[in-house]
This record gives sequence, structure tokens and C-alpha cells, in this order.
Amino acid sequence: MKIFIVLVLCNVSFLFAQLTESQKNGKELINTAIQYPDSNKLISKIALGSCGYQDLSQPILSIAADWNPDVFLYLGDNIYGDTENMDTLRAKYNRLGSKPEFKKLVKKTGILSVWDDHDYGINDGGLEYPKKEESKEIFLQFWNEPLKSERRKHTGIYHSFFAGPIGKQIQFIMLDNRTFRTKVITGVPGIDINDYIVDTNKNAKMLGEEQWKWLENELLKPADLRIILTSTQFVSEFNGYELWALKPYEKQRMIDLIKKTKAEGVLFVSGDVHFGEVSKQTPSDCYPLYDFTSSGITSTDFTQPNKYRIGKEIHENHFGGITIDWKKADPSITFELYNTVKDIVYTHSINKSDLSFSR
Ligand SMILES: [Fe+2]
Repeated sequence: MKIFIVLVLCNVSFLFAQLTESQKNGKELINTAIQYPDSNKLISKIALGSCGYQDLSQPILSIAADWNPDVFLYLGDNIYGDTENMDTLRAKYNRLGSKPEFKKLVKKTGILSVWDDHDYGINDGGLEYPKKEESKEIFLQFWNEPLKSERRKHTGIYHSFFAGPIGKQIQFIMLDNRTFRTKVITGVPGIDINDYIVDTNKNAKMLGEEQWKWLENELLKPADLRIILTSTQFVSEFNGYELWALKPYEKQRMIDLIKKTKAEGVLFVSGDVHFGEVSKQTPSDCYPLYDFTSSGITSTDFTQPNKYRIGKEIHENHFGGITIDWKKADPSITFELYNTVKDIVYTHSINKSDLSFSR
């Protein structure tokens, strides 16, 4: 443990040496020069990850950059902010922004990002967090959101982005699972499993009305593949921790919306849990819904039961890679997890036609 603390302190002091005084104390945010991917470019390699502690070295980012992705998806807990002090939040973002491995990734590829609880500012928090507007402003500035972006014109950080030529176009739907989410309900220690119980209140919210309305419009837009970035897991079964299954009416609403809008090609990607896995659930009258979880830039944790999991879960630090072979008549979509020595530790493939009502 002592060695770990010394290593962390060395790393922190190295990073601090790169920052100006006002960046160190969070009065000023670092300029990251992050960019969206080129919307005209064919996207065939998508990297994704989440849960990176800003004071630790993040070699997985360098490995992800070497994989040459067309885009990197940051799925939340991108830093561990956990504060109502916006100087502290800015200072923690600066520690990520000053990392050489982060700068390498940013230079190599476009970035799309959503937040989860820790970078939002409160562990397992939602609507009740009092600094949501201030935190959003810092999020937008750090991730270099264009000044004219629609994302700046509404409450919350939800947004969409299209990339690729017609016929091979991917819609990235970035959800905000925090700004509008009503409180989770704490279970009884020793009786209930883990931290939280299922919220059976029909008014319990995950996305909020405004975001649901926006999402419906998005799902009605034409796209060849739709990747929904949801910080907390969508498909995984209830396990007493945070995920969509805690608010079953909201989870069902998403399924119903996909069916109502007849949106094909939907694929969820998620983070938060500190391990990697792929889950698959096939609702009635719908195609299979996949959720590719990549959560382990620096974090690792124990597994939870999940009857929807395909194969094994991955407990070492990793990033996720989605490769789409557009050359095939029915494009293949391959999910892979890569560890810190570039080994592929998980792989699962599907076809684009699997994500269709008429399959
Ligand atoms: Fe989280």
C-alpha cells in the first residue's frame, strides 16, 4: 500500500509540474484541443472506455490510440470529481488533460463523451446535485464542445452526432443519465442485495421528459447504425447497484420507444461498473438489444450476476473496440476488449442484420 501511495504522489507531482498555477488550483481550465471526428469520414473502428482516476497513469489510453480508432467514446467517470467545489472539479479535469497518454489519444482521434456520477460531481447522484449547471459548463469547456453546438442550448449534456457516408452512416446518441435522474432508493443493509432496491414508482425518472422527447426525434432520423452512449448499463439485470434495471419503467420506455419509432441498428455502450462485458436481451417483438460495457481505464472491481451476459467478464484494465466491416453485404460488428499488454481478452461478433425487426 505504501508503494502505491508513493507512486500516486510521484505521478501527481509530475502532472502538476506540467500545469500553470491557475490550472493547478482550478481557477482556469486547460485547453485540450479535443475535436469531434470528421463527420464525412467512414467510421469502422470505434474505441471506448470509462472510469479513469485522474491521479493514476492511464497506459490504456496510449494503447487505444495505437489501435487507430476513428473515434474514442468516453462513457463517464472520466475523472473522479466528486465535489461541489468547481475549482476542485476543474483542477481534476486538468490533471487528466495534462497526461501525455491523454494528449496522445486526443491528437490521434476524435472524441465523443458523456458523463457519469463522478465527473458530474456526486457519487451515485442525479437531479438533486446543486451544481449541475456549473459542472455542465466545465464539461463542455474541457471536452471542447463547439460554441454554436445545440448541446449548449438545453439543460443537460445529451447530444447526437452523425458520421459516415449515406448507407454507412452511424448515429451516436449521447445520453445524460444524471441531470434529470430521480434519486435511487437505498436498500436495507443485511436484507437487500448491495446498495439499492428497484424503484417501482412509475414517475421515477432516468432521462426526464425533455430528453425523452428529444430522443424520440433522434430515433426517427435515418441512420444505418445507432450507438447509444449510456453511462450506466442498459441491459444488465438488477444487481443492487446503479443501472437502468433500478428504474424498470424507464428501461421499458426505452424498449417501447425503439419499437414505436422502428429504429433499427440500435446498440448500447456503457461504463460505470469497473469491469467489461457484453450483454444481450431480446424483448418481445424486438430485435436483440446488445450492451457493450467497457469500464476499466484505471478501475477494476468484482463482478455482479447478470443473466444477460455473453461469455465471460473482464476484470483487468482495458478499453473496448468495435470494428465494423462495411465491405460485407451484411456488415459484421465485432466487440473486443484489449488489456494493458494489447492482448484481446474478449471477442464477440454479430451482423448488422441482427439489429433489425425483419431479421
Ligand atoms: Fe459511475
